[in-house]
Formats: sequence, structure tokens, C-alpha cells
Amino acid sequence: MTELVVRAPGRVNLIGEHTDYNDGFVLPAAIDRELRISYRRTDDRRVVLTRLDEDETLAFDLDAIGPSGGSWIDYPQGVARELAVEGIAMTGLRGTISSTLPISSGLSSSAALEVASAWALSAQHPPPIDPMALAKACQRAENRYVGVRSGLMDQFAVVFGRPDAALLLDCRALLHEGVRLPLERARLVICDSRAPRDLASSAYNTRRSECEDVVRTLQAAGEPVAALRDVDGPMLERHAHHLDPIGIRRARHVVRENERVRAVVEALRKGDLLGVGRLFAASHRSLRDLYEVSSPELDALVTLAEAVPGMFASRMTGAGFGGCTINLVAPEAVDRFAADVHAGYLARTGLDADIQAVSLATGAGMA
Ligand code: GLA
Repeated sequence: MTELVVRAPGRVNLIGEHTDYNDGFVLPAAIDRELRISYRRTDDRRVVLTRLDEDETLAFDLDAIGPSGGSWIDYPQGVARELAVEGIAMTGLRGTISSTLPISSGLSSSAALEVASAWALSAQHPPPIDPMALAKACQRAENRYVGVRSGLMDQFAVVFGRPDAALLLDCRALLHEGVRLPLERARLVICDSRAPRDLASSAYNTRRSECEDVVRTLQAAGEPVAALRDVDGPMLERHAHHLDPIGIRRARHVVRENERVRAVVEALRKGDLLGVGRLFAASHRSLRDLYEVSSPELDALVTLAEAVPGMFASRMTGAGFGGCTINLVAPEAVDRFAADVHAGYLARTGLDADIQAVSLATGAGMA
């Protein structure tokens, strides 16, 4: 049988962090670092995958999907379970997974594996399902099977990525539109902190419950809210006395971060890169001090970036607890930016940051 290859890109999030599972707004963009599955179909209903970076082969049976086991095969396996629920015909396969996307760095390697798996498993190409429903099925795999209660942003960006625009998503209405970036004046540069990211998924789930607790408290006080999306600053401050100190910090972040998404979109449309920079800086501070998901390494990368001439905007991107920063840098300043930040970060932390300019990319599909 012929060899088939599916690809799924990673993503950066320009702004709107920890807002997706609060029914808010996000502005991700798919990037040209991607995961690929090369495979041949079989008729034995077995899915056998080898991860080339770890040289590890794991397998499961499409007709006997057991409980999750805590390894990377949970992602394709969880996706197979959700595709079965959607009634999508699947075939067995023998395949290898390769990736130019750093794993567990906050660039959506998990969502890329989920969406690439969905394409590879589906007997039909494209998978016979509405693309938003496909993104949601992959999110459910992560929520229910892997056990991370992530929002929809990553799977959405991996499915809908465009080579010419970032994507503004309203996570409640599930409506989205492209937002062009002034890439002739500012390149997207990623700094991977390469710091260990332990306990990220349990801390992530805790943040999500803390937000839900605030919503329940506001509902008990008579406010007609379904999610933090419905809360504004004055309402939150009116109830500050019966919210616990952690809850109020988390909610203040989410309420203001939603406002910042809209403000960044407006600044990008006007070409106001300095305005974008101020909003990125405010977002980073809020994630550090109110949402408490930054790390000393991410803070160091942002501080070092801010000292480089030609750097417009810098903040942590993704869930946090380690991972990457996203930076908008004038094209002629990229080399100096990479050299200065790399050297300064090595001196401060002893770590070898991976710094790369990236381009936008199209969503998952056949390679
Ligand atoms: C992870 C999750 C997303 C989102 C971000 C934080 O990437 O998968 O759903 O919550 O963290 O913005």
C-alpha cells in the first residue's frame, strides 16, 4: 500500500491566555513548525506508531480501546475513541511520528498530535466532519482521555491555521476571523526557555477550577453569569469582598486579558506595534502576578527581550509554567535579538534557549 503523510502545525498565541476555557477571546496563529505522521494503512484494525525522536513504538486496537495509560499513545488513542463517537470510519495503520515542533514547549505539540492522528486514522480525507467539530473532538480526547481540561484554542489553531493571518476566535460563539499581522515590519520570533515543565497539567486544571469557583460565587450572589466572559471589572470589584484572594486574582487576569485581545486586534489593524508592545507587556505581568503561570525563565526572556532595540512586543505564550515567549521584532533586528537574548539568558540561567523566527502556516492536512 502507498505511504501517506499527514502534517499538523504548532501554534503561537499572540494574546488571550487562559481565556478560552472562560468562554473568552484568543488570537493564535499556526506556525511552520509541525508534526508529521507517515503511514501505511492496514486492514487489521491495529494502530502501531513509532515516535522517531524517542525511538519508541506503541500500539492499540481500534476495537478495544482501554483506559488511558499516561503515555503519548493516549493522544491518538483518545482521538480514535472520539472519532468513533462521531461515527467516523477508521483504518488500522503502521506509522512513524516526526516533528520539527519542540515537544511540551507550549507550542501545541499535543494538539498537533491529536489533529494529525485524526487525519491519519480517518478512512476518508479530509475527515468527513465539520472542521470545528473535528477540533472539538480532539479537545474532548485531551479533556476526557488524557485528563487535561484544556480549552479549544490549540486544536482550533491547528485545524484552521492560515498562512496569511492570525485567527481571532470567540470561544463562546465559535466565530472566527483572520487578523493580518504587519509582518513586513515585525517578524514573529519564538524563544524556547528549555526549562523543565513539571506539574504543568495539574496546575492547569487547578487554574480552570479556580475560575469556575469564582463564577459559582458570583452566581450565588445573584449575578447572571455563565462564565468569566460575562464578568466585567466593576462587577468583579463589587463582589471582591466575598471572593477568596486567589479567585479574585485569577478573575482580574481573565477579565482584563479579554479586553486586551480586542485592543491588540485594533492596534494590529492600525499597524501600531508600540501599542501591541504595551498590551503584551501588560499581559505578561498579569500572567506572572495574577494568574501565576509564568516562571523565572520566561520572565528573564521577556526582560532581556525588552532591552533589545527593534523589539516591539514580548510575552509568554501558551499555558505557561515554562515553555516559550513570543516576540515581535523588526526584521533587521532579529539577528541581534537572538544573539543578545541567548547570551543574556545563558548567563542568568545556565540554559541554552532555542530562538527562532517563524512564519505562519496552514492548518493540518495531507503533506
Ligand atoms: C493551553 C491550552 C489552551 C489554553 C492555553 C492558555 O495551550 O491547551 O486551551 O488554555 O493553554 O491560554
